[in-house]
Amino acid sequence: MNYSERYENYRTHFEEYLQKRCAGMAFQPEILTESMRYSLLSGGKRVRPVLFFCALEAFGKDYRGEEELAFALECIHTYSLIHDDLPAMDNDDFRRGMPSNHKVFGEGNAILAGDALLSYAFDILLAECGRDAGHLRAAQALSRAAGAEGMVAGQSLDLMCTGAEGGESELAQIYRNKTGRLIAAPVVMAALLAGRYAAEAEEFGLALGDLFQLTDDILDAVGTREALGKSVGKDAQEGKLTAVRVYGLEGAREQADARMRKCLAILHTMDGADTTFLEDLTRYVRRREK
Ligand code: IPE
Ligand code: IPE
Ligand code: MG
Ligand code: MG
Ligand code: MG
Repeated sequence: MNYSERYENYRTHFEEYLQKRCAGMAFQPEILTESMRYSLLSGGKRVRPVLFFCALEAFGKDYRGEEELAFALECIHTYSLIHDDLPAMDNDDFRRGMPSNHKVFGEGNAILAGDALLSYAFDILLAECGRDAGHLRAAQALSRAAGAEGMVAGQSLDLMCTGAEGGESELAQIYRNKTGRLIAAPVVMAALLAGRYAAEAEEFGLALGDLFQLTDDILDAVGTREALGKSVGKDAQEGKLTAVRVYGLEGAREQADARMRKCLAILHTMDGADTTFLEDLTRYVRRREK
């Protein structure tokens, strides 16, 4: 199986599970369920669930049976996107090729859809904690990555640096927290479930998070709305602190190349793990167009 087929297998496995879980949601009033489903089912690359499944396999574990953790992760990621697009944050009207949640359901309902997805994720995590010590550790890793020492902290600094001064060190903090922690989380969670590679998983995941946000910033400057499914040119327009602003476009590309090499080097230190797919995924993140 080549890289694309394998990615598609992981993605489809997750997508089918997600469809089933969403079909079973019946929160009242109905608009709450509709708005949660709208953003969960509107596509997206599903990179984080794919990373979780492939890391489990790389570390010698079966990913079947771990779908709930992947689902919790995607709920948290989706909530972060709904809130990120709100007028009070990035003010973006398009996401995943469709109108943003608040454009369809209104700002109040979009805030609540995000709140509900976040709380739902914790409900799932609490249930998973009961399985064994590895699941407890994995759930804890995800909750820390999501909150005030992770993604939320990154979004807070991102807001603070919007239209304001900021350089390399602020950018590194923003990258690590707003993106890196939720990209690293699935790899770290897989390592915690496997009971090995935890330190390497975190180092790799954070470097991959940097690479992911570097390409996100580059694509905001040079990508197309058709491919990305979201507005482009918004970072410069809003005065965001991005890699393109700090290093210039060519400089950002060089940073991405260096980060890709770092990811591959860390993978090569994981003796006994089958990291072939993770290596291919790293190269894909460098050259992605969406
Ligand atoms: C977008 O994440 C937000 C960032 C951290 C850059 P993705 O690029 O993974 O978005 P989807 O899930 O594919 O829509
Ligand atoms: C957002 O970074 C990261 C999140 C925590 C959602 P961006 O604001 O650059 O993500 P996009 O470009 O809107 O997807
Ligand atoms: Mg943002
Ligand atoms: Mg944004
Ligand atoms: Mg962006």
